[in-house]
Amino acid sequence: MKLSDKVAGVTGSVRGLGWEMAQAFAEEGAKVIICDLDQGDVDGAVTRLGLAPGRVLGLKANVTVEQDVLNFFQRIKEKFGRLDVWVNNAGFSWPPKRPAQLEVVDTQLEDWLQVLNTNLTGTFLCCREALKIMRVHRSGSIINITSNHGKEGRARMGPYCASKFGIEGLTQVMALENSAFNIRVNALKPGGAVATERHRSNPRNKGKKALEPRVIRNCAVYLASDEATGITSQSFDATEWNNQHGIKVHYTTE
Ligand SMILES: NC(=O)c1ccc[n+]([C@@H]2O[C@H](COP(=O)([O-])OP(=O)(O)OC[C@H]3O[C@@H](n4cnc5c(N)ncnc54)[C@H](O)[C@@H]3O)[C@@H](O)[C@H]2O)c1
Repeated sequence: MKLSDKVAGVTGSVRGLGWEMAQAFAEEGAKVIICDLDQGDVDGAVTRLGLAPGRVLGLKANVTVEQDVLNFFQRIKEKFGRLDVWVNNAGFSWPPKRPAQLEVVDTQLEDWLQVLNTNLTGTFLCCREALKIMRVHRSGSIINITSNHGKEGRARMGPYCASKFGIEGLTQVMALENSAFNIRVNALKPGGAVATERHRSNPRNKGKKALEPRVIRNCAVYLASDEATGITSQSFDATEWNNQHGIKVHYTTE
């Protein structure tokens, strides 16, 4: 097993790509931390993982709320006393239940802030606390989930592109600041649209080809594991990584 006894946390992990990574880490022997917005969803995900109570911690936390994040990391310290892997995954391209994606000229400040707060500020807040724990034992791997739109702009995705470009930059900064502590910081994107629950629920995606959510699993395990020793400040594309490693990438039609 590639992650035996490592303590690994994933934000936004009750569904979608976060859930895929939480499962993959559990299957590789990690102790897993689940974090999401709703306590019932968190409890459900913990039950579905089926790990012994000593190997799992599920917490309701909103990554945009500083006090939630501080409490959350305090609980991690109390339960496990260390942290080896942290994945910043919670995020979205446009706030749920808001009018369709708009051009920048029509974007409301409220929508801009919600995307930036969740995708970028949430990543900053969690990284800051994760780094404090990892620096004590002088090792760790942080994985920041990005998107094709973290390097290539797309119309009607102003806040999303700004947040994901920001994540790519923040990843490089934190990699530089923490290499002396043997902490690796990398970005990871699926490499295309993924058929998560949220993606499938959008009528505009009907009939379109999308990647199966498991696309992210192998590259996330690689980056979390000691196989990736020395690999930092990089931006990975899970689809490309799978192709390079002979792993079949599955697509589905919505
Ligand atoms: N699905 C895609 O096509 C796709 C493509 C490229 C990148 N991504 C990225 O992958 C990540 C996950 O996307 P997904 O499609 O699996 O999304 P999803 O909506 O299926 O899951 C995201 C999870 O994050 C949680 N979440 C949202 N805000 C939160 C907050 N403030 N605090 C804690 N949890 C919060 C949600 O409740 C949800 O469970 C995102 O960062 C997204 O930008 C997704």
